[in-house]
Amino acid sequence: MSKYITTPIYYVNGEAHIGHAYTTFIADTMTRYEKLKGEDTYFLTGTDEHGQKIEESAQKNAKPTQEFADEISKTFRDLWDEFEIDYDQFIRTTDEDHKKGVQKAFEVMYAKGDIYKDFYEGHYCVSCETFFPETQLIDSQFCPDCGRATSIVKEESYFFKLSKYEDALLKHYAENPDFILPRSRANEVINFVKGGLRDLSVTRTSFTWGVKMPESLNDDKHVMYVWLDALLNYITALGYGTESEKMSYWPASTQFVGKDILRFHAIYWPAFLMSLDLPLPKTIGAHGWWTRDGEKMSKSKGNVISPKEVADAYGVENLRYFMLREVPFGQDGDFSQRAFIDRINSELSNDLGNLLNRIIGMSGKYSEYLIESTDVEKFHSKELDAMNEALGNLDAFMENLQTHRYLEELWKLFAIGNKAIEEHAPWVKMKEGKKEEALATVALVANILAKAAIMLHPVMPKTTNIIADALNFTIDSASYNELVVAKKLLKSFTIKVVPPLFPRVEEPLMAEAPLAEPNKPEKAVSENVEVVKEEDNLIEIGQFFETSLKVGTVLEAEEVPKSKKLLKLQVDLGDGRKRQVLAGIKEFYSAESLVNTQVCVVANLKPAKLMGMISEGMLLAAKDEDGLCLVRPEKPKKAGTPIG
Ligand code: MSP
Repeated sequence: MSKYITTPIYYVNGEAHIGHAYTTFIADTMTRYEKLKGEDTYFLTGTDEHGQKIEESAQKNAKPTQEFADEISKTFRDLWDEFEIDYDQFIRTTDEDHKKGVQKAFEVMYAKGDIYKDFYEGHYCVSCETFFPETQLIDSQFCPDCGRATSIVKEESYFFKLSKYEDALLKHYAENPDFILPRSRANEVINFVKGGLRDLSVTRTSFTWGVKMPESLNDDKHVMYVWLDALLNYITALGYGTESEKMSYWPASTQFVGKDILRFHAIYWPAFLMSLDLPLPKTIGAHGWWTRDGEKMSKSKGNVISPKEVADAYGVENLRYFMLREVPFGQDGDFSQRAFIDRINSELSNDLGNLLNRIIGMSGKYSEYLIESTDVEKFHSKELDAMNEALGNLDAFMENLQTHRYLEELWKLFAIGNKAIEEHAPWVKMKEGKKEEALATVALVANILAKAAIMLHPVMPKTTNIIADALNFTIDSASYNELVVAKKLLKSFTIKVVPPLFPRVEEPLMAEAPLAEPNKPEKAVSENVEVVKEEDNLIEIGQFFETSLKVGTVLEAEEVPKSKKLLKLQVDLGDGRKRQVLAGIKEFYSAESLVNTQVCVVANLKPAKLMGMISEGMLLAAKDEDGLCLVRPEKPKKAGTPIG
């Protein structure tokens, strides 16, 4: 049976960050794992290029939309190529074949009676490219997913009969418990469907940057809704609508997505497929978010970490290992250099790297680098059993997408190897004249390393090839079958001397967001951003209430030319006029990311002049050695709501 594995297609409104790299690494690892097992795999990734959001980003960058999409799409592709991501196809939703496939799918759904024309009036969030019913809005205005203000849009639209598929979807979830992984995520989807599905508006007339309607409908006022267009990429890539043999890869085995887009993939997507009479993917794997200071990393928030920067500093394979090991699949994880360095030093350098160095050293001294497995069973059957048990557990972890458990289990092998060396102390055995026994321990460890290298290969392909080369074998499905499945031991060979694979990292290799100077008190107002800090002086409550703190909504934001730190914001404090606030947060937030978000403002400050401009308030923010973040209401509140 073949395996078709996909990543989401990435929006081309900004370059990749480590959240995107994470999805791509997991999908790449899964593909390599299946290949190792001898499966015929097809791995798809690509870019999502239509919709209002992309059109607006291109306009902001003063570029024609297609040119802008070409540029950003290329940065994704170049990065995946640089990271040696083993994809079979990089699809772009602006590809002609994709557009044809989407039109074909639309025609099929229409002919089936699943698409009809009507009017839509609703609250639309441009950032999420989604309509929300009033009941789901926060404070009747803000998007429940991203918190930004929605706007009311009324337009003629084609609708997909999503409601028709409610029962079929619920039945599918009930009968296929692995349709959504981790299983813990399934409930939120099921509850959403049980809450009632409304038909889905699948075309737009308010913008033009999208796939055109099929000619047969003769209605060029409309373009396709970006999510219909985007989701269909998973089958248009295989030639749906343009005749291709690759369709035999459908249904997908695993489709990786972030938790924020699970609903689209676990509800809309299977409903579209049912309408097209196509089988559903086996599993939708929803991972959590990489956060920074607890906040989701995202292009629009401007708090992203560049995967290229991290990979340049620490090595892409170390990054793959770290990301897959650090966070249980499905949960969020904070990206910290400290945690990364700890794992490099203790797990990669100590547990794995040293083990290889030790047997290279010992075999050099005791047997001129010759390693033979002849006596391993005789002296180390206990260790071999423990090793085989751990190896036998791995497949279930990977198939359940639990990469952290997979790696944890794999690391048991190195613990077995290191313990065997300590317990059997080959150097003592050599002194006692028990050379056979000493060499058996060295050979045991060589076998452990060989088998572990095979199983680590999907995560760290290049590094494990170096290990395999040192141990005189090649990692492929033949060696997997022989050494892992059939549990055979290595034939005699001469080990190669290789330089240490994982040099220890003593201190962070990347500059973090600028650090506050230790022990130097922050000025209370640093370019108009209040830094929250502990105070020794106690005050009366009345003194606190002398300060008027209010929730503000940022209406506009722009950079102050020639200032490294300042952004100029126009803030709504609910009193019907715009307040101009100059805030020293440019190093931490892009102007664009602040618009339509909320802040906490000191509203009764005497106006001050900064760089010749009036500032009529101050934002609350917290700053520590990891950088600065704004203090914001946990949920959107009306502009002007008092804080206290
Ligand atoms: N274009 C849509 C997907 C369409 S798929 C038919 C989209 N694009 S995206 O670029 O915004 O996000 C792509 C993927 O990256 C999503 O799975 C999303 O969850 C993931 N991530 C975006 N930010 C992330 C983190 N901070 N951490 C982990 N993954 C994150 O959504």
